[in-house]
Amino acid sequence: MKIISLCIVVNLFFLSTKETKQNYVKVTQETNLQQSINRGKEIYADMCATCHLPNGEGVAKVYPPLAKSDYLMEKREASIRAIKYGLKGKIVVNGVTYKGMMANLGLYEDEVADVMNYITNSWGNKNPKMVTEKEVKKIQKKED
Ligand code: HEC
Repeated sequence: MKIISLCIVVNLFFLSTKETKQNYVKVTQETNLQQSINRGKEIYADMCATCHLPNGEGVAKVYPPLAKSDYLMEKREASIRAIKYGLKGKIVVNGVTYKGMMANLGLYEDEVADVMNYITNSWGNKNPKMVTEKEVKKIQKKED
């Protein structure tokens, strides 16, 4: 009988530490994400808003939207690559074809992650999986 209650106590102990750990991870991830979004917001205002506009709506047929963009939200890797290295050629965003070009903007990898976290969590966009500098580092330029 004693052994059983001891087991229960020990189990409860492990269960509770596991939960605190998970909460801790969750909280630090949330603050990291929020800080990254805040940095990304400034980068966006400086480097992107001229074309994609402050509200992310872009300019029809010239500068594609980022707000509720299916391209941005579904092609995570291609979007990171576009911000990291630039983008040219035909793309389709929300059913509209763009054949423009976005120059290489010269951002550092951590800045690419920050601006991605901002644009994928603004204007109705929601991205639960934070973009990290490590993820950006792994994405290579496509041969053309
Ligand atoms: C000089 C204008 C210009 C600037 C500045 C610019 N872009 Fe773009 N962006 C474009 C154009 C044009 C395209 C489409 C290129 C094509 O047609 O291949 C594009 C495409 C994109 C796409 C993929 C398509 C979409 O709408 O989802 C993303 C994501 C993006 N830009 C993000 C950014 C971010 C973030 C910045 C700032 C760091 C930025 N852009 C700065 C013009 C610009």
